[in-house]
Order: sequence, then structure tokens, then C-alpha cells
Amino acid sequence: MGGVTRRPELAGRARERTQLQAALQEVLNGSGRLILIAGEPGIGKTRTAEELAREARERGANVAWGRCWGEAGAPDLWPWMQVIRTCLRAVDEDTLRQLVGPHGSELTALVALTGSDAPATVSPASRFRLFNAIAHFLDAYSLRVPLVIILEDLHRADPSSLLLLQFFTQEQRQRRILLIGTYREPNAPPNRALTQAVIEAMRESGSERITLGSLSENESESMLRSLLDEEVPPELLRTLHWRTGGNPLFLAECARLLPDRDERGTRLWKSAADLPIPAELREVLEQRLEPLSGEHRAVLVRAAVCDGHFHARDLVTATDPTGDEQSQVKAALAEAETLGLLRSGGTPGSFRFAQEMMREWLSGEAPATLTPPPSPVDTTVALEGKAVRPPAPTIFRREGEYWTIAFRGQTSRIKDAKGLAYVSFLLRQPHVEVHVSELVNLGAGPADPVDDRTGIELGTLRFGLGDSGVVLDAQAKAAYRTRLEELRGELFEAETFHDTGRAERTRAEIDFLTQELVSATGLGGRDRRVGSDTERARVNITRAIVRALARIDESDPELGRHLRRTIKTGIFCMYTPDASVETNWEL
Ligand SMILES: Nc1ncnc2c1ncn2[C@@H]1O[C@H](COP(=O)(O)OP(=O)(O)OP(=O)(O)O)[C@@H](O)[C@H]1O
Ligand SMILES: [Mg+2]
Repeated sequence: MGGVTRRPELAGRARERTQLQAALQEVLNGSGRLILIAGEPGIGKTRTAEELAREARERGANVAWGRCWGEAGAPDLWPWMQVIRTCLRAVDEDTLRQLVGPHGSELTALVALTGSDAPATVSPASRFRLFNAIAHFLDAYSLRVPLVIILEDLHRADPSSLLLLQFFTQEQRQRRILLIGTYREPNAPPNRALTQAVIEAMRESGSERITLGSLSENESESMLRSLLDEEVPPELLRTLHWRTGGNPLFLAECARLLPDRDERGTRLWKSAADLPIPAELREVLEQRLEPLSGEHRAVLVRAAVCDGHFHARDLVTATDPTGDEQSQVKAALAEAETLGLLRSGGTPGSFRFAQEMMREWLSGEAPATLTPPPSPVDTTVALEGKAVRPPAPTIFRREGEYWTIAFRGQTSRIKDAKGLAYVSFLLRQPHVEVHVSELVNLGAGPADPVDDRTGIELGTLRFGLGDSGVVLDAQAKAAYRTRLEELRGELFEAETFHDTGRAERTRAEIDFLTQELVSATGLGGRDRRVGSDTERARVNITRAIVRALARIDESDPELGRHLRRTIKTGIFCMYTPDASVETNWEL
């Protein structure tokens, strides 16, 4: 097998790197920052911090790392001690005397704590003096040379380290220090001290949090190309992206197992699609399942036997007269979603595994007698942990007067309309901003249909009167407001269950609708009329897209929801799929 040992170039993460570079620049200009980097195991928190560390060094800063130790035996403030030691090693004795100033005795006490027979905890009484001494020392140090402190794996931090982090951020703007913290999220078991510290730290000016998501298919492709030094066939890429869920650690481990080249230098890609789950990853999968009770795990095993999407009701086995089993299934699925193992399937009560490999792993535990419930969706994937093919392709293609649209195993035919061509154009180039003038020139599709009962053009009824009319009519506004109400409820629920992904998506939709209402109504609440050519194009394109999505909704609500969440309209329009969704559209 392959035996890849190259370190791949950093794939994707352009936005995150820009955020980190901006923070570094501020620190070099004399104003301190805190950036927390969160995400699931293997998603690239350390790697992202390493990239920043490299850039910081190139720009003349010193970088000190402190890693939290999760097992028993580490003293309090262990990560900070590592940071202090790095700084101490970088200065001579005279400079050190100047740096510690009046706080020498506290620092000596801190360093002494690392000794083998020192007490393992910092007493609350001595805490403040110690914190103050550390802050004083690091401040003095950073006046000589800007400092980047990277505290790794804060989900394992001792409470004193987290308190010091909070203490440190209170006056961070006056420091020349960039503090980076990484931690796993969702973290299990939940670390309350960490949650509290994050909430407090985020209140301070200069604090920011970055949540790393999975790599998109394109980003996975560039990571694999850089690892293997050659292109991966598209079909295999799709399979790997689907099985790994776009997690870089999983991608790297799978790449290690890919077949070697033969004598003629070509790879036998064919055998690569059904590679077993690498041993190292089984360990990671198990770690992620650890917080689940035996009963909840059994529910997930049942879910793993259903391929693709499943519904909560598919997992209730007995007749369940008391409803107990139903409650247990609900609780198990909610917990698994919070842990990031499951994602919503788009409709209430439906789910899918965030990572196909997790489903494969769990399905291996299923007794032979356990069979999947009849499923209306994709049945192309083999069962019993041998799934090697990603779900049915996603299609968005015009065929004469109709569009064929396939998403997650459901295929629909929709009558042509302009908005569908705009949507297709955006799907063709995910993450690329497209100016409305480009879309206007597409010139596809007929005008919107006429409502048989009233003879009124549907688009006019719902969205206003032609080019120089009112941007949104009363009926459309009422519909937007109802949807906003629903979304606020969803947001509340997502925040209560710490479902950051869903909360973010909901906020994005709220922002979009609010923006539409505001721009339709103007500041004084009176309806605004359409102005310049660009503005007119924006309004027309938005209407056409919204109408197209409404039509898609009628035949495939799940796709409708996905597109509403991921298509941004405005003067620039863009399709920004989240990496978890299959985006390899056949257009
Ligand atoms: N964007 C990326 N491009 C290329 N390789 C990456 C990327 N992100 C991570 N990797 C690689 O994937 C592997 C896992 O990344 P990393 O160790 O940074 O994950 P992590 O989020 O810190 O995980 P953990 O929670 O276990 O600490 C590493 O080999 C890393 O170099
Ligand atoms: Mg890490």
C-alpha cells in the first residue's frame, strides 16, 4: 500500500488564514488579540495554528507553544509553564532580571511547581499574585519582541489555566501578544470550565473564534493531490470525500492506504474505493463515540444499518406502548447530533451520518438479524459496512422545456424558468461571487407562468409590479415575516443545544430575509422603489431565484431548503455549499 509520507500543502482555509493574518498584523501594530480555533478531531486546528506560527516567525515574532495534558499527573498551569519556559530560554540572565522585575519570587514559585515533589495545584490565595506575575513577565518580554502564544487542546486544560486565559484577555488590547487557543468542539464529555472561559473571553474586545468545518470536495482534491503528487480520479475523489466527510486527518490516513504504483508507474486506483477503515481512524471513531451510553450507541447502530438518510421513527423497534423507546431514540439522536456524529437530514426527525466511515464502523456491530427499514431514498449503497459508493449523483440539468433535478436520491422534473438557469449558473461555480449583470445576460427561460384561477402573473402577485415597481409586495412580505418567526424559534433551539452549524445557517437565512425586507421597505418603513440598472438587475434576479426556489420546494423541499441556505443573492450572488453536502452537481 501507498505509504505516503509527504506533508500536504494547506488546502482551503483561505478565510481563516486571512482572519489570523489580520490578527497578527494588529498585534505587530501593538494591539493584542485572542483567537480561539475550534473543531472536531483531525479537522486541522493544530495545522492552522502551525501555519500562523510560521508566518509570525517570518515576520519577526517569537512563538511559544503550550500543550494541555489530559491525563492525571500534570500540574496546574502546565501549558502556561511551557510557554514561560520557552520565553525564559530565549533570554540571558541580566535581561531576565529586568523582565521579572518585582515578581521574581512568584515566577520562581511557578517554575518550581514543575518539580517532581511540588504540589500539583495552585491555591486560590496565591492565584492572583501568580497570574499577575506571569502577565507582567510576558508583557515585558513581548515589548522586546512580539509574542505569539499557542495553547493547544484547551478541552483538556486544568481550571487554573483557563482562568489565566480569561485573566489575560481582560487587558489584551494593551499587550503585544497574539494568544491562540485550540480546542475540540463538540467536546465530550462537555467541559463546563472551558465553555465558561470561552464565553468570558469572547466578551473582551479583540477576541474572535474560528470554527473549522470540513474540507469541500475541491479542497479535498487539492489536499490529496499535494499528498500524492498526482491527480485522483474524480469518481474515487467523490468516494473518499464522502467516506471521510472532508476531514483532513481521515483523508490523509486513507491516502496512506492507497495502492502503490505498479512496475509501469501507474496506480491501481480501482481497488482504492473499498479500502478498509485505517486502524488509526478506528481509534478516533471510538473516541468520538465514547460519551454515548450503551443504549444510545445501540440506537446509532440501528441507524447505521439504514443507508443514507433515516428517520427517527425507523429506529423504534418494539410496539412501544409507553413511548419510552421513542423518547430514548430521540435523546440518542439529539446527543449524536450535538456530538457532530449526525447531521440533520433536512426535514424534522430525519438525519444522516456526518461521516460515512462512522456509519460503516457502527454498522459492523449490527447483528445479522438487524435489517434496514424500507427506505424511500437512495438504495444504491451496499450494507453491512461495505458501502463503497457515494449516494446517487446530484443533477441540475436543463433538458428542453424541463429541468431534471436530482438530490439525495430524489429526482424531479421542473418546468423551465429564468431563475432555474441562474441557480444552475451559481451551482457551476461554488464559492465564486457572480455579479448580477452576468446573470442578467444569461437570457434563459420563459417568463413566469400565469395563475390559471386569476390570470395574474404569479411572479407579479408574489413579488411586486415589474421593473419599476415596489420591490416586495405585501403578501411576499407577510410570507417573509412568518418565515422569520419560524427561524427565530429554530435559532433559539439550535443555540440551546449548542448546535453551532445549524445556528450559523439559521442566522444566515435570518440575515438574508431581514436584508430583503429592509431593502424592500427602506429606512422609514415605506416601500422603496427600484433605482439604478444594477439595483433593478439585483431585484429581478433575486425575485427570479426566490421563485425558482419556491418551485423546487414544491417537488423537493429538502433541496429547496439546502439552496435557500446556501445561495446568497444581492448585487453579487454566490452558492456556498457547506462541505457536508454533496456538491458535485452534474449540470
Ligand atoms: N487544510 C489542510 N490541508 C492539508 N492538510 C491538513 C489540513 N488540515 C489538517 N491537515 C492535516 O491533517 C492532519 C490532522 O490535522 P490536525 O492535527 O491539525 O488536526 P486537529 O484538528 O488539531 O486534531 P486534534 O483534535 O486531534 O488535535 C495533519 O496531518 C494535518 O497536517
Ligand atoms: Mg490538534
